[in-house]
Amino acid sequence: MYYGADYYPEHWPEERWPLDAEMMAEAGLNIVRLAEFAWAKLEPERGRFDFDWLDRAIAALAARDIHVVLGTPTAAPPAWLVRENPEVLRVRADGRRVHFGFRRSVCLVSETYRAHSQRIVQAMAEHYRDNPAVVGWQIDNEFGCHDSARCYCDECRRAFQAWLRERYGSLEALNRAWGTVFWSQTYTDWQDIPLPYADVEQPNPGLALDYRRFASDANVAYQRLQVEILRRLCPGHFVTHNFMAGQFQELNYFDLARDLDFVSWDNYPDLRRSDPAQLAFNHTCIRGWKGQSFWVMEEEAGPPGNTVIGPSPRPGDIRLWTYQAIAHGADAIVYFRWRTCRFGAEEYWHGILDHDGKPRRRYCEVQQMGRELERVGDEIVGAEVRSQVAIVFDWDAAFALQAQPNNPDLNYIDHLRRYFTELHRRNVSVDIIPWNADLRHYKLVLAPMFHVLPPEAAAHFEKYVDKGGTILFDVRTGVKEACNQAVDMPLPGLVADLCGVTVAEYDSLPRGLRVPLLIDADPSTAAAPEGQVWCDVLALQGAKVIARYGGQYYACRPAVAINTHGRGRAVYVGTVGDAAFYERLLGWLLETVDVRPLLETPAGVEAMARWQGTQRMLFVLNHTDSPQTVTLPAEHRDLLSGQVLHGAATLGPKDVWILI
Ligand code: GLA
Repeated sequence: MYYGADYYPEHWPEERWPLDAEMMAEAGLNIVRLAEFAWAKLEPERGRFDFDWLDRAIAALAARDIHVVLGTPTAAPPAWLVRENPEVLRVRADGRRVHFGFRRSVCLVSETYRAHSQRIVQAMAEHYRDNPAVVGWQIDNEFGCHDSARCYCDECRRAFQAWLRERYGSLEALNRAWGTVFWSQTYTDWQDIPLPYADVEQPNPGLALDYRRFASDANVAYQRLQVEILRRLCPGHFVTHNFMAGQFQELNYFDLARDLDFVSWDNYPDLRRSDPAQLAFNHTCIRGWKGQSFWVMEEEAGPPGNTVIGPSPRPGDIRLWTYQAIAHGADAIVYFRWRTCRFGAEEYWHGILDHDGKPRRRYCEVQQMGRELERVGDEIVGAEVRSQVAIVFDWDAAFALQAQPNNPDLNYIDHLRRYFTELHRRNVSVDIIPWNADLRHYKLVLAPMFHVLPPEAAAHFEKYVDKGGTILFDVRTGVKEACNQAVDMPLPGLVADLCGVTVAEYDSLPRGLRVPLLIDADPSTAAAPEGQVWCDVLALQGAKVIARYGGQYYACRPAVAINTHGRGRAVYVGTVGDAAFYERLLGWLLETVDVRPLLETPAGVEAMARWQGTQRMLFVLNHTDSPQTVTLPAEHRDLLSGQVLHGAATLGPKDVWILI
């Protein structure tokens, strides 16, 4: 298994490189990522390349059998490039051009910038194609980071107009799709079409969604430009990109993943904010973008911070986060960063080593992991995650709801996480999938807030249900056509018949207002779960009621219903529940479809499985600070300790088992 660190030799005196390589090797590291912001050193002036220093750094690492992933340095163009071509700088939605002095400051649509990018990537690829230490490439760095997913320069505006012409064919079609008759916005010339600038208080929803799609496509196309060069010149190398997760929802990650060999991502478990379920959700999304195992290209290895410093990972955290990543499908772990830099914008973003380069507690923990992975890593690489439950992620829904959130407390990713968190609490393995995935593998498919519903998706879901599948929809589903116009049919639109309900009316609730939910099968109101944010009042068209509202003017009216369709079932959930609601709902649904947890565990202990052929590896991770008793119904051997465990066994604080 590849296990390594992000290394910036250009930040340190050359005399130090051999010692770094030696310390890395002693910690079990066998890969580094290099060069991803080093454009100014690699091409100090236009057309003059200097690879000597990087060759020597690679040689120092290779002397210790450490392999190299090269980053293409295009997230940080040199000052000369921007001086010579100031038009490559990105323009913000308020019309202001950003200044040189940070990173991700350029427009990826700019023909000039694309040409410069091609030149540096080509030069690097030609130089390193036959270097035996180099095994692959990371393109650029975190597309979309620092609010860079969308640019508002004139070149982008022209490119957007061309993209629209391609999509709609004629202005008549575009005017119809966007409903431009509203507020006299009918276009008679393509060049009149604006971007959704900041001073346009509420852009046309069709334009707003199309601009997000266009900008996502532009990032994907820019990445492809580099992928094509690397594929042509370095056919033996892999090509990846380091994705972001968490709240980031600005680029269609299914599209961005398509051209890559595998997805990588940057995992910064913020001790102030993230819990194990959130981290698990992020890993699950990342695995989902390409439906396969992934790399963590940056794994937190020290206190994060730029101007202020965040909390230090507690003893055991780095190891636990690493195993959690592996449990969810990571095939390689690379820590950010080897050594904390003494200068620059990230002077306080700590790595494995502190500023002084001395090995301390975090180094020892990385080394312990290194020893363990030397023993077990290769058994795990390539093992699959197999899930019986899937959550559909739809980027059109994410984008459309960004433009029009419907309720200030509705956020697409947060909403999907409500379902995920409850499944995770129960140790039920989940996949994140696009709507057009093969659904037959799944006993249960959840498609929350499937807001923009094309007829092909509705037909795909219906086919799945008719063949025996069970699907769940909920609030704001089927509201929009692909052009982002509201449908002219009762909600949930094209899946109303499948769900056997229509939405008689809806109520967007003010923050803090909650409505009790009365479960039909359990009429006790003692600990009734509650609905919040949104209430769809359902009219039954063949479905059976599961829960009703217990308050407001729609008291007693249906809130949740299940419908039989073909050989399967569709559930419609008309509200956003509290945690107690999802606990009840998913408890009942999992029982209905006969999905069982991987393992029953106490709170704070996570179980997740990967499969190598018929061999299951069950990861059990104790995220708490105290020992936990876990009951193992069968005998297992722990790959890490070699112990054979059965019945009530104790898992130490922040400790991990890999059970076979
Ligand atoms: C991101 C980037 C890195 C670095 C880290 C820490 O994930 O990819 O270059 O900036 O964050 O801030």
